[in-house]
Amino acid sequence: MLTIDHIDVYYGAIQALRGVSLNVNQGEIVAIIGSNGAGKSTLLRTISGLLKPRTGTIQFQDKTISGVPADQIVKLGISHSPEGRRIFTNMTVSENLLLGAYIRKDAEIEKDLEKVLLRFPRLRERIKQSSGTLSGGEQQMLAIGRALMSRPSLLLLDEPSLGLAPNLVTEIFSIVNDVNKDGTTVLIVEQNAHRALEVAHRAYVIETGSIVIEGSGKELLEDSRVKEAYLGG
Ligand SMILES: Nc1ncnc2c1ncn2[C@@H]1O[C@H](COP(=O)(O)OP(=O)(O)OP(=O)(O)O)[C@@H](O)[C@H]1O
Ligand SMILES: [Mg+2]
Repeated sequence: MLTIDHIDVYYGAIQALRGVSLNVNQGEIVAIIGSNGAGKSTLLRTISGLLKPRTGTIQFQDKTISGVPADQIVKLGISHSPEGRRIFTNMTVSENLLLGAYIRKDAEIEKDLEKVLLRFPRLRERIKQSSGTLSGGEQQMLAIGRALMSRPSLLLLDEPSLGLAPNLVTEIFSIVNDVNKDGTTVLIVEQNAHRALEVAHRAYVIETGSIVIEGSGKELLEDSRVKEAYLGG
């Protein structure tokens, strides 16, 4: 579904990704793990068209998308729930959710809103509330819900569990699993390596801009290098 081939990405003179190649098959949950500054968010921003690779290519369902503007990439079926959630705190929950559907003109937006609210009952209870008053976990749910409102075939999630209490982390990962089971392919970036590897079919480890290890979620959970560096020994 997604094939990334040897991309180099820079911020001005700073190289953030070095020859990164990876692929995501339809129906998978693929995790990217790595420490602070490794390049995880840069990778997602490049896939969603916010950054452009200097070399290398990105293919999505047989189309080359590297260099395609971000709004076009959403139309092709890729939706990005960014790091730090980036919801509009002065707007209501329902306004934020409907913004996620801004590219759509079809008649099923209301139906999809209902689906999102079934998945996130807490959002339904707070539908008219200003989003800035939501808890951190609820804001994360809103960010994921908003990303789902564009009906993506590939959902990019950047650190959905960051800063959440353990029970909410469990809830978020269970939602990610449900969304995937309902047919959405997921590429998830996480510092919570343990949870991410448990839910992922396959995963990649990124260090200083390069992919250094790849394998099934299970293989990586048992890999001694991964255990030592990311799973607390
Ligand atoms: N806007 C920017 N301008 C310059 N350098 C940047 C910018 N954004 C990121 N970088 C640099 O690119 C590298 C990769 O950053 P990135 O945000 O992709 O890391 P990350 O793996 O997502 O880290 P974290 O886990 O802390 O979110 C870092 O060295 C960072 O300092
Ligand atoms: Mg990041």
